Amino acid sequence: MRLSRTLNWTMGAGLAAFVALGASGQGQVASEEEARQVAEERSRTMKTLGRSMRTLKGFAGGRGTAEEASAAAAAIADAAPTIPSLFPAGSGMAALPDSESKDAIWEEWDEFVAGADRLGEKAAALQSALASGDSDRIGAAFGDLGKNGCGGCHRRFREKRDG
Ligand code: HEC
Repeated sequence: MRLSRTLNWTMGAGLAAFVALGASGQGQVASEEEARQVAEERSRTMKTLGRSMRTLKGFAGGRGTAEEASAAAAAIADAAPTIPSLFPAGSGMAALPDSESKDAIWEEWDEFVAGADRLGEKAAALQSALASGDSDRIGAAFGDLGKNGCGGCHRRFREKRDG
């Protein structure tokens, strides 16, 4: 009796975990309120990435210190693996009018996750370039990070609105 109840509970919990995660590792929001909260959190994260890129751009243009630039590249490398968790299914532009997240994110989830991985790799490459002090290498790695790290994902998965 006790055993079968335990088994039922275990199976029930297992099923719930499966539904919450989906078959491919995507999260899923439970309510519109949750969707809005996660969208605000990712907006903050993306804006922080934007500030780090401005610090790096400034350094490439002769402003700021190498330490500040290294910290900015490290912050991007650290944030990259957290990006997919900020995009649970049901939190995109189909559910939230202000969101710029295309449905393609969840239709091509593996590609989206690969885009976040690529960002981490390119930020790490910039960290080593900065450590080398070679300005040509730094410039190339910074360009690659912006164009292919941030831009590679935005071109495919973000619906940029005017204004
Ligand atoms: C794996 C995909 C991906 C990567 C990599 C990525 N972004 Fe984004 N970004 C998005 C998506 C999708 C949105 C739209 C989010 C929304 O509105 O729901 C977005 C939105 C933004 C926004 C607008 C935030 C707001 O609410 O106004 C900024 C700024 C931004 N990204 C900066 C960056 C920068 C800088 C990088 C690189 C350092 C970067 N992103 C890398 C997917 C990505």
